[in-house]
Amino acid sequence: MMKRVAVLKGGVSREREVSLRSGAAVAAALRKRGHEVREVDLGPAMAEQLLPLQGSVDAAFLALHGRLGEDGTVQGLLELLAIPYTGSGVLASALAIDKRMSKRVFRAHGIPVADDVTITAAEIAASGLQRAAEGIAVDLGFPCIVKPNCEGSTLGTFRVRNTEELEEALRGALAYDRLLLVERFIEGREMTVGLLGDEPIVLPVLEVVASKGFYDYECKYTRGMTEYLVPAPIPESLSRELQRLAVQAHNALGCEGVSRVDFMLDERGGAFCLEVNTIPGMTELSLVPKAAAAMGYSFEDVAEIILSTARLKVDRTGCGGGPGQEEGNEPGA
Ligand SMILES: Nc1ncnc2c1ncn2[C@@H]1O[C@H](COP(=O)(O)OP(=O)(O)O)[C@@H](O)[C@H]1O
Ligand SMILES: [Mg+2]
Repeated sequence: MMKRVAVLKGGVSREREVSLRSGAAVAAALRKRGHEVREVDLGPAMAEQLLPLQGSVDAAFLALHGRLGEDGTVQGLLELLAIPYTGSGVLASALAIDKRMSKRVFRAHGIPVADDVTITAAEIAASGLQRAAEGIAVDLGFPCIVKPNCEGSTLGTFRVRNTEELEEALRGALAYDRLLLVERFIEGREMTVGLLGDEPIVLPVLEVVASKGFYDYECKYTRGMTEYLVPAPIPESLSRELQRLAVQAHNALGCEGVSRVDFMLDERGGAFCLEVNTIPGMTELSLVPKAAAAMGYSFEDVAEIILSTARLKVDRTGCGGGPGQEEGNEPGA
């Protein structure tokens, strides 16, 4: 069925450029399928830009990455405006973007994650960088990896081998977030598993072989810098295990519609779940479309499947009259 779709792209996060690419690719795909597509490049006045969509579109396709887009905030506004939207709802989006909170949930569900230490800007300011780094070195050892808690695209992420490098990395990562996660570095291979649609379809495991040793921003978005192997050349049993863990991680956070679960495999084949992406990249180089292609789905098919997940996700039972109470917003409508 033809829909009037607003593709929301851009936004104000550090992943704005990637989002513009995802959004343009999705918009082109949905137009090819006959949908009436409006591309909305969101800027700082996001709420004002979203307001006029109320009543004039059937669905919002979220192609936003990072904070104030992938993190539940835009989802919350769309709920209030009663504009059906793709993917996960408010809570799952907020949990998934927050690596520390995600890991708490994963641990509670027995999903294996890398050991870590978290530290805030205030704690670093209080103790000084050197003391902070020395403390982490004692707790975690080397090599380790410093990440901003709520960033994506490997931005602000540094692999370190000693206390001096750790100090440097903490300083660097603080430019991205006031809360930092330092994880034990898992030496090994990198795998990702996409989940697509309401069922969901569990895509084949995809191995990422980055030419730089780890999958940084440049390797993610520069053609030719990364090799993608799908299905990943790993034993069938391990592949099934990763798919099982991916579904578990997706469900544990309460994700809906689409997600991509990132893993590291250590040298003994032990899997560690890094994170769940609730609005995975949809550029030409992106992983979900690549994995889906291995199952025979075109890029347009993927966009169409994600679009079919558009609805309001907040259960309005008992909420009384208000936006979204009218017909047409029931799940599956
Ligand atoms: N604990 C770890 N051990 C080894 N490599 C890691 C670890 N955590 C992250 N990485 C590398 O950094 C990249 C980005 O980390 P990730 O947690 O997926 O954050 P994001 O993709 O949101 O920036 C991963 O794709 C992987 O290459
Ligand atoms: Mg990732």
